[in-house]
Amino acid sequence: MEKGKELYRGKAKTVYATNDPNRVIMHYRDDVSAFDGAKLAQLEQKGETNNRFNAFIMQTLEQQGVKTHFVEVINERESLVRAMKMLPVECVVRNVCAGSMAKRLGIPEGTPLSEPVFEYFYKNDALHDPMVNDDHIRVLGWASDEDVQRMRVITKRVNNVLKPLFGNAGIDLVDYKLEFGRAVDDPNGQLLLGDEFTPDGCRLWDQKTGEKMDKDRFRRDLGDVIKFYREAAKRIGVPL
Ligand code: TMP
Ligand code: ASP
Repeated sequence: MEKGKELYRGKAKTVYATNDPNRVIMHYRDDVSAFDGAKLAQLEQKGETNNRFNAFIMQTLEQQGVKTHFVEVINERESLVRAMKMLPVECVVRNVCAGSMAKRLGIPEGTPLSEPVFEYFYKNDALHDPMVNDDHIRVLGWASDEDVQRMRVITKRVNNVLKPLFGNAGIDLVDYKLEFGRAVDDPNGQLLLGDEFTPDGCRLWDQKTGEKMDKDRFRRDLGDVIKFYREAAKRIGVPL
């Protein structure tokens, strides 16, 4: 596999072409961003930690029947994935009230939810990823009704796998964000889980101490960001 030119530079990852048009390389940088790029920094070991974390989660999900874009880890900071056409929608699942839901509805962080709550956000940094509903997604042509239903079904399955995975490691999976797309070489256009699953895009709370083990440590200046990412990784069995 030969690494080609840079295709896209996101806030924490860079995507490179390869000599296979149906495969791209995701390079995990040490950059960290919050509040849509308003707060930026570099954290030592972040790239390698997230690359390993994501690979472990994607492989675990595949084993449990969730189709993802993940192919393999190539080196410390890079993984090979299928080239995808992404839907411009972020799918958030909440098991416990926190973050923007707590703020928007005036409900204390940590309030339990009797069942998972789904939210959709339009991926647009300039607009600060506004919340949308399934009507917006369908009527504005971002995804079909069937896609929205599929995202819900896949997301539920992901929750059924990951909640116990973290739970058995003494960690509450409070909420997380998923992104979906279609592999460019798939004639059937099956919806696949794309992007990443790392502590950058979820909330993880230590069940005993309540300590945050995710990017809120950076957003809220709590310190030791990567130390806690790595502690969460170690507990669920990610080979670091
Ligand atoms: P929120 O409470 O800020 O809406 O975030 C919900 C979850 O989604 C949380 O686990 C962090 C994740 N998330 C992202 O991955 N990217 C984003 O741009 C935002 C706003 C949240
Ligand atoms: N993911 C967004 C950013 O990188 C927002 C956030 O995580 O706070 O800026």
